[in-house]
Formats: sequence, C-alpha cells, structure tokens
Amino acid sequence: MREEILRILRERKEYVSGQELCETLGVSRTAVWKCIRRLEEEGYEIEAVPRSGYRLLGSPDSIAEEEVASRLTTERMGHPIRYFAQIDSTNRLAGREAAEGAPEGLLVIADEQTAGRGRRGRTWSTPAGSAVAFSLVLRPALAPESISMVTLVMGLAVAQAVEELYGLAAGIKWPNDVVINGRKLSGTLTEMSAEAEAVHYLVAGTGINANMTAFPEELRQTATSLTLELGRSVNRAELIAAVMRHFEADYDRFTAQGDLASLLPEYNRLLVSRGKEVRVLEPGHEYSGTSHGIDERGRLLVEKADGEVTRVYAGEVSVRGIYGYV
Ligand code: BTN
Repeated sequence: MREEILRILRERKEYVSGQELCETLGVSRTAVWKCIRRLEEEGYEIEAVPRSGYRLLGSPDSIAEEEVASRLTTERMGHPIRYFAQIDSTNRLAGREAAEGAPEGLLVIADEQTAGRGRRGRTWSTPAGSAVAFSLVLRPALAPESISMVTLVMGLAVAQAVEELYGLAAGIKWPNDVVINGRKLSGTLTEMSAEAEAVHYLVAGTGINANMTAFPEELRQTATSLTLELGRSVNRAELIAAVMRHFEADYDRFTAQGDLASLLPEYNRLLVSRGKEVRVLEPGHEYSGTSHGIDERGRLLVEKADGEVTRVYAGEVSVRGIYGYV
C-alpha cells in the first residue's frame, strides 16, 4: 500500500483526496491516514489539507524498496527488489539468490557496501547515504562468449540515464565505465555461472558515484560524482529507476538479436575514445592506435599506424587514452 500511495502522490503532483486513495486501494480511510503518518515519520513531507487531500512535497533521499519500486516503469527489471541498508556486496548476494532460482530482473540494492567488488580484483567503495550500488540477476539465452556484451549494455544504460536526467555529457570509457569530464562516475562488474555451452545466470553489478562530495586522495584525480558535476545532490531512487528503464529497453534489443548491432549508433555516439588515440595494454604486448568505436560483438576497433585494424576483446585488456585515464 505504501508503494501505491507514493506512486499515486508522485505521479499526480497535486492534491489527492483521502476518499480517492481509499477507493483506489480498497482500504479504509484510517488505513490510508496511518500509512501517511508512517511515511511522514520516515522523512516524507506530505501536506494534508481538509477537503483537498494529500500532496507530496518532498521525499528523503532513500533507495529503500518502495522509493525505487514506486518509480519503476519496467516490466521485468527491478521486479522484485531486495534492499539492504548495509551488506558486504550486492553482487555476492544476488549471485546467491540467483543460484537458488531468483528470476531474471531481481534487483539487489544497498545503501552501503562493506566489501564492494570492482573489476580485476579491485575493491569498490560504497559509502552510506551517498552512493548507488545495485546488482541485477539476468538469465539471457546466450552462449557464454556473448556475455561480456551485457556489461556494455549496462554501461550504455547508465550513460543514457545520466544524460537524460541531468543533461550532463556522460560518456562511455570502453567497455563499461561511465565518465564525465575525464573522470569515472560509474563502473559495472558482471559475474556469471555457466557451463561450456550454457549460461545459468549472470549478475550485473553497478556502482554510481551519486552524491559523494569528496573522494579519498588516491581517487581524487580519476573519480567524480553527480553532486560534484552538478553542484547539487540528486535523487538516487530516481536514478536507479531511470537506469532500469534504459537497461530493459537496451537489453531487450540486445537479446532479441544476440549482438549489439542495433545499439551500435547509440553506444558509439557516447564512446569517449571514438576517433581518438588509445593505448591497448594486453598482457605482454602494448600498442597505440586510433579508436573507431565498437563492432556488433562489443570489440573495440583500433587502427594501428600501419593501417591494420585490430578488434580488441573486453577482458584482460586495458585501453587508455594517451592523455590520462580516459
Ligand atoms: C569497476 O571496477 O569499475 C566495477 C565496479 C562495480 C561495483 C558494483 S557496486 C554494486 C555491485 N556490487 C559489488 O560488489 N560490485 C558491484
């Protein structure tokens, strides 16, 4: 009921009468009133005017289940949601849930992670109250070698959501980091359980630096947050819901075709290295070239000085711009 009341008040933006809420939800006036009281205790600002009804004036910056669920417009992604005020890693929990049969679309959200995992064995910091950390359970009917493309789809969805909601020039650093003004805003770690031929499930875990106002010394030159870029804080639940909306649309296009062909123009539009000089760092082998964007399998096309075009697979390879992180 809480989620429904929040959704109605948020969508209407105007007064909604107690009578209408009772009738829509099929509950008594007292039940509605009690629910409104509880929401107020949790930090929602709700105006109650006799004969007009209730109006939502403000929401706490919470990413608890009902805050995100009442904003979702998706059919599968984010259904259901499991929220934790604190957890070691949403990827770990989502992996465990998936192994026990959780459906595609299960979204695990945490306000704080105590052991967030990054790519290449690194850690990922998720301080309470300011970060976004979520993991999505996916069950695509694809071969294991196609799975790395899902990571690109999530990076694309984050960049699209940030561009749409805040008008920021968010770009993608191949394969899936999202960057603004040359600094990292978001990263995705995709983990899977598979046999040689079939994928059981995968977990796409994303961290977004939403409302951090400062970073530790070692990250200061390479990381940024939405708050630092915008000069104001953002509503994290709205951001998660927008990422889910873009991801569902992009993922459906990707899985319908089995590759990224239909997403190429959008991905390459947002790719920061496109047309620029990059350095490819393969284990034991380094070279430079010009990035020409990705192909339909998500490989980065790099043209070397002699004109040869190599297709770089995401994985152990690292690609850097020649001027700094991006
Ligand atoms: C990277 O190194 O760029 C990837 C970072 C991925 C971090 C996210 S936060 C939510 C999810 N849970 C984790 O433990 N890691 C991912």
